[in-house]
Amino acid sequence: MKSVIEICLNGEVHHIDDVRPDTTLLNWLRLSAKKTGTKEGCAEGDCGACTVFMRLQRPDASGRLVDEMRAVNACILFMPMLDGAVIVTVEGIAGPDGELHPVQQAMVDHHGAQCGFCTPGFITSLYHLWRDKQVLDDQEIDDALAGNLCRCTGYGPIVKAAKSLADYQSPAWERARLDTEDAFLAAYHKGDESLAIKAEGQHFYAPRTTAEAARLLAEYEGAQILSGGTDIGLWVTKQHRQLSCFIYTGKIDELALVSPVEGGVEIGAGVTHNQAMQALQDAPEALQEVWRRFGSAQVRATGTVCGNVANGSPIGDISPCMLALDGVVHLTSQAGMRKVSLDDFFISYGVQDRASDEFVSALYLPDLPADTRFHAYKISKRFDQDISAVLQAMRLTVKEGVVTDIRLAFGGMAATPKRAPATEAFIMGKEVAKLAEMDFSDMIAADFTPLSDMRASAAYRLQVAANLVRKSFIVEATQKQLYLAKAMGEG
Ligand SMILES: Cc1cc2nc3c(=O)[nH]c(=O)nc-3n(C[C@H](O)[C@H](O)[C@H](O)COP(=O)(O)OP(=O)(O)OC[C@H]3O[C@@H](n4cnc5c(N)ncnc54)[C@H](O)[C@@H]3O)c2cc1C
Ligand code: FES
Ligand code: FES
Repeated sequence: MKSVIEICLNGEVHHIDDVRPDTTLLNWLRLSAKKTGTKEGCAEGDCGACTVFMRLQRPDASGRLVDEMRAVNACILFMPMLDGAVIVTVEGIAGPDGELHPVQQAMVDHHGAQCGFCTPGFITSLYHLWRDKQVLDDQEIDDALAGNLCRCTGYGPIVKAAKSLADYQSPAWERARLDTEDAFLAAYHKGDESLAIKAEGQHFYAPRTTAEAARLLAEYEGAQILSGGTDIGLWVTKQHRQLSCFIYTGKIDELALVSPVEGGVEIGAGVTHNQAMQALQDAPEALQEVWRRFGSAQVRATGTVCGNVANGSPIGDISPCMLALDGVVHLTSQAGMRKVSLDDFFISYGVQDRASDEFVSALYLPDLPADTRFHAYKISKRFDQDISAVLQAMRLTVKEGVVTDIRLAFGGMAATPKRAPATEAFIMGKEVAKLAEMDFSDMIAADFTPLSDMRASAAYRLQVAANLVRKSFIVEATQKQLYLAKAMGEG
């Protein structure tokens, strides 16, 4: 066990042993490290003013350490979560003699630098693009910048700067900087000790194995399982909750992978949304699209898939998708591992079939059966970075134009992510072409009694849910017509 956090900040190695575990990276940067270039806008992961670049290494299935480059929101990351990370803030981007880095030069050349509050966040998001991937299409650029909110609507020049990054050469001094990072990471990974911090009555544990996590969870009653912190971060920064003990899943290498297994894949508890999107490139396009609209690049870089399911939120986006896809959670405790179908996992608001000494160690997703398709639609007020009013997910098997199997799930319609049994029963055995002309309002009203809130009224939710079911069948029917037309040489 060690009790010192090791990070490499702007090329300088820090050993930190004097922080309370729920100190955010943003507060540490501004108040202790005096790096005030990183700004606080919202303190809830929304605006991107606090974006910093993060590099870490985790082992792949063969045990080889692989780089992960992330743009992250410093305002909702707790310091101990950064152990072993390279962090670059806006102060660490320019060259040793103040030479502008290409991302800064691109912003100057395209008049992208605007107000001093958002610009550091934009620069670090661009720096992440530079480090991770320089050749980008328009959508990738928009997605990468969706988590940086500019209130003066000056996106045009910033997008131009991002598009131009491929035109700039990496300066010679950049190599030395990467060598420093490599040396830090190599030294850090020589030891694989668990981190345990106790300060001001607060405990933080970062176990390295599933067994160690289960033991700690049994030992510390009321301990809070912490994964990406994209929910828990806000409990601290916005609700000022005093949490006594964290057990962090992000350092358990065996849970940091998406692994192909018999009949499907397993997504480990430490797998972020970004990582899952990349690993599941063959997943249905509709699922990828839900992910693309999930929070922002910064939120997807740290928030985990299992965290989204484990929290049982009625408005979580991934849970209804996994419910429709027949997902199964793996719950681990000292007693072993048990599997619970998502059909049974969500019990009522805030209550899941999970004992206090269990944690979600993985989510299993079965392969899609033959002739099966997946439709998912997220309805929110804003396209990017918004919480769903309604999310519909449908796994559909169609044989000779007739529905032979359906799993239809919704978010935003009940106190938990929930399937629609009456609507499913109505749809089963019917022709897709006929379903495309039907009104599902009565069935949806039989399945759900949604709430009215600031996102949508109950009436709107019922109407939009019924419309989305019909839309799925219109898309199915149209795709079939297009396919037939193509096959007959008409398309
Ligand atoms: C700006 C912003 C935008 C967001 N946008 C979206 C969005 O578009 N769609 C959406 O669905 N959500 C969104 N979220 C919410 C959040 O990102 C997700 O719910 C995320 O997947 C939570 O995962 P996490 O790893 O960050 O969980 P954490 O914050 O670490 O934990 C959340 C809860 O789950 C529990 N938990 C976490 N992991 C486990 C585990 N392995 N076993 C048992 N319990 C566990 C924790 O104890 C806690 O109660 C957004 C959040 C922010 C800040
Ligand atoms: S301060 Fe707004 S995202 Fe962190
Ligand atoms: S750059 Fe800050 S509001 Fe536009």
